Amino acid sequence: MEKHNFLLILLFLLQFPISIASSNETDQLALLAFQNLITNPNHFLANNWTKNTSLCSWFGVTCTPKTQRVVALIPPAVGNATKMMNFSLSGNRVSGNIPKEVSNLGHLALLSLFDNQLTSFIPRTLFNISLLLAVSLSFNSLSGPLLLDEGNIVSNLKSLSISNNQISGCIPSNICQLTELKILSIAFNNITEDIPINIDCLSELQEFYIGNNPIKGTIPTSLGNISTLQYFHCQNNRIVGQIPPELGKLSNLRQLSLELNYNLTGQIPKAIFNISSFEIIDFSFNNLSGRIPTTIGLHLPYLKELYLGANQLEGEIPLFITNASKLVILDLAQNFLTGTIPTNLGNLRELQGLLLHDNQLTNEPREHELRFFNSLADCRMLKYLQVGNNLLNGTFPNSIGNLSSTIENFHIADAHINGLIPTSIGNMSGLMPRP
Ligand SMILES: *[C@@H]1O[C@H](CO)[C@@H](O)[C@H](O)[C@H]1NC(C)=O
Ligand SMILES: *[C@@H]1O[C@H](CO)[C@@H](O)[C@H](O)[C@H]1NC(C)=O
Ligand SMILES: *[C@@H]1O[C@H](CO)[C@@H](O)[C@H](O)[C@H]1NC(C)=O
Ligand SMILES: *[C@@H]1O[C@H](CO)[C@@H](O)[C@H](O)[C@H]1NC(C)=O
Ligand SMILES: *[C@@H]1O[C@H](CO)[C@@H](O)[C@H](O)[C@H]1NC(C)=O
Ligand SMILES: *[C@@H]1O[C@H](CO)[C@@H](O)[C@H](O)[C@H]1NC(C)=O
Ligand SMILES: *[C@@H]1O[C@H](CO)[C@@H](O)[C@H](O)[C@H]1NC(C)=O
Ligand SMILES: *[C@@H]1O[C@H](CO)[C@@H](O)[C@H](O)[C@H]1NC(C)=O
Ligand SMILES: *[C@@H]1O[C@H](CO)[C@@H](O)[C@H](O)[C@H]1NC(C)=O
Ligand SMILES: *[C@@H]1O[C@H](CO)[C@@H](O)[C@H](O)[C@H]1NC(C)=O
Ligand SMILES: *[C@@H]1O[C@H](CO)[C@@H](O)[C@H](O)[C@H]1NC(C)=O
Ligand SMILES: *[C@@H]1O[C@H](CO)[C@@H](O)[C@H](O)[C@H]1NC(C)=O
Repeated sequence: MEKHNFLLILLFLLQFPISIASSNETDQLALLAFQNLITNPNHFLANNWTKNTSLCSWFGVTCTPKTQRVVALIPPAVGNATKMMNFSLSGNRVSGNIPKEVSNLGHLALLSLFDNQLTSFIPRTLFNISLLLAVSLSFNSLSGPLLLDEGNIVSNLKSLSISNNQISGCIPSNICQLTELKILSIAFNNITEDIPINIDCLSELQEFYIGNNPIKGTIPTSLGNISTLQYFHCQNNRIVGQIPPELGKLSNLRQLSLELNYNLTGQIPKAIFNISSFEIIDFSFNNLSGRIPTTIGLHLPYLKELYLGANQLEGEIPLFITNASKLVILDLAQNFLTGTIPTNLGNLRELQGLLLHDNQLTNEPREHELRFFNSLADCRMLKYLQVGNNLLNGTFPNSIGNLSSTIENFHIADAHINGLIPTSIGNMSGLMPRP
């Protein structure tokens, strides 16, 4: 039965480009090329893995053409393939550990083993391969701490991705030796210790993903020194303290995700909204207080998603938000916001979600109708409109019927809306039950 279920290779099966192998025709040719790279004193493989016999009859190989998936172990002998440039076995069922012999692969530029079943530690000597450019070990079951040898490491590593494993301990402070690092992804692991305060030693970093760990401590202010940083995802950790105003120096920042830390406190620094390159800001599910900065002249031309929901924010909805014309989602729900809902939200032509529920928003003074609805008629993409649990105390304008027919979710319960519901509301055909 197994025969039909597996393309099973005891040693290795390779769909990878190899420096001296030009052929990519079949797995068989790839295996041949790989075998050529291995110093093999008794030539057993050379005699056994021959072109004129089927791949499936080769020593160590079992296969079924059905799944084209591989179960394999990486043999320590892989370290003999010293000329190998790229070693890629992603998306297979490679199990066992990464042999420490991989560090013998002095020409290795790319090590790609993501989406397998690898266990045990990441060999620390891996990081002393000076030609290595990219390592991807994500989606495995690697454990133990991330360790680098101390001293004399020459590294050109630009991308290190070890997300979705069970790596524990800390981000080692000697990660500074990876001076060329541009992408560092350690998300979805079991890192418990603080982010190193000297993290700015990674001065070329562009993407830093450490979300979904139990990382504790505060956000180091030195992060604000990494002027190349574009993506910082640190959501769903146990970060406490304030959002450092120094982050406002990151003039290339596109995405800042700090949601679900629950215990981030203090005000949102003014300087944060001064970063015009922003695309996504997510501070939701924290304990941020004070007003949303209202600094005028702010320019957020690329901002698509702003999530500040589920905090303790107070004061008014700042008007600069209606200038962020690319905004798709605006979530300010579950705060203590007061004042009125801006009547020019219609500027946000791309808006799909407006979540303002569970606040203390009121109607315009001396107005009877809820005028903000008029403007929302210009948001033709709007799908989610939640304004319930506020102090709106007004009536629907007749224009409610002009609201986009794309609306799927309209929540106004306990908004203290009074008067009759205009019959034109029936135009919101998106609310109708779907076939
Ligand atoms: C090996 O990988 C590197 C980095 O992705 C790439 O630049 C190089 O072209 C690859 N070499 C071969 C022989 O495939
Ligand atoms: C396979 O290799 C040949 C050269 O040996 C090259 O022309 C071709 O583009 C390659 N095909 C793929 C899918 O990489
Ligand atoms: C790898 O090389 C070492 C010494 O260079 C040798 O002793 C060993 O047999 C080789 N392994 C294989 C599988 O060829
Ligand atoms: C390769 O080795 C296997 C296992 O020892 C054997 O069954 C097979 O016949 C050999 N193939 C060749 C071509 O020598
Ligand atoms: C396969 O080719 C090799 C030489 O490459 C030869 O020694 C061997 O006898 C051949 N085996 C068969 C089964 O034809
Ligand atoms: C790293 O490699 C360099 C050169 O290849 C060598 O001089 C140095 O001792 C190695 N360092 C460690 C910690 O292995
Ligand atoms: C995470 O790490 C802690 C301590 O380092 C350990 O006690 C715990 O078992 C680990 N959890 C998982 C899921 O690996
Ligand atoms: C990095 O940030 C720290 C803390 O914000 C600051 O004291 C230090 O001067 C900065 N270093 C550089 C080189 O900018
Ligand atoms: C937040 O802080 C409270 C009180 O100090 C603590 O009980 C809770 O576990 C913390 N939450 C997180 C996600 O760290
Ligand atoms: C915003 O940026 C401008 C120039 O880029 C600067 O003059 C101003 O001080 C900044 N404001 C804050 C609050 O950081
Ligand atoms: C939120 O922060 C305030 C101080 O600003 C503190 O008193 C309160 O206990 C915090 N709430 C939670 C749930 O951590
Ligand atoms: C709602 O508005 C009416 C006047 O439009 C006013 O008489 C009434 O007191 C308001 N109710 C609340 C709860 O503010």
